[in-house]
Amino acid sequence: MTAAATDREALAGLRTVVFDAYGTLFDVGAASACCRDRLGDQADALSVLWRAKQLEYTWLRSLRGDYVDFWHVTGEALDHAMATFGLDDALLRSRLMELYFALRAYPEVPGVLHDLKAARLRTGILSNGSVSMLVGAVQSAGVQELLTEIISADAAGIYKPHPRVYELAVQRFALPAEKIVFVSANAWDVAGAARFGFRVIWVARSGGRLDRLPGEPVATIGSLAELPALLAEPVAVAAGQ
Ligand code: 2OP
Repeated sequence: MTAAATDREALAGLRTVVFDAYGTLFDVGAASACCRDRLGDQADALSVLWRAKQLEYTWLRSLRGDYVDFWHVTGEALDHAMATFGLDDALLRSRLMELYFALRAYPEVPGVLHDLKAARLRTGILSNGSVSMLVGAVQSAGVQELLTEIISADAAGIYKPHPRVYELAVQRFALPAEKIVFVSANAWDVAGAARFGFRVIWVARSGGRLDRLPGEPVATIGSLAELPALLAEPVAVAAGQ
């Protein structure tokens, strides 16, 4: 999609790929979409507000120094969104939360992870999600065998984009930041991870726009499906040298 924007040299020889979870591997719109029978025309707007509040609460709680895990934050954000739309329905709330717990992966995800594993790359997740939510979504997508590590912000007690969270991947993989490829569809995460020092690939699904914040991706792709070729090519060049 944007080959001209790709810095292949920055990616050459890198063998460890860490993914953001929500919005990158897992479709944050899927829970509301599955409740369209009840939500009707409000499904998309509810989903957008739910996600916006969820992110806002992670950042506000990080600033305030009163961390609670992502499951809790996700529930509080849903309560705000449901109240905004005049939805007072405990059954609907628990259905939405249940769906979020085992959130649907984007269709290309299993194939992409499979290709990366076949190319002997190490893969992991680094997410603001709690461990149980991440395991729930990974199991529901059937990709648990395709990921080496699942790393949650829980271990840092603060949320991305705080550098302490990105540092967890450096520790877990025992690699310097510049040896890690970080993949995210969230512009705020792209900027934070790049500023931390990862080599970041931005998944610019449905266009999107980078934030006006320090930290640039080294490559931009339109879909995760482009990832295996992007990471395989520099390795093939290196192997031929
Ligand atoms: C993540 O998975 C919240 O999308 C963000 O860390």
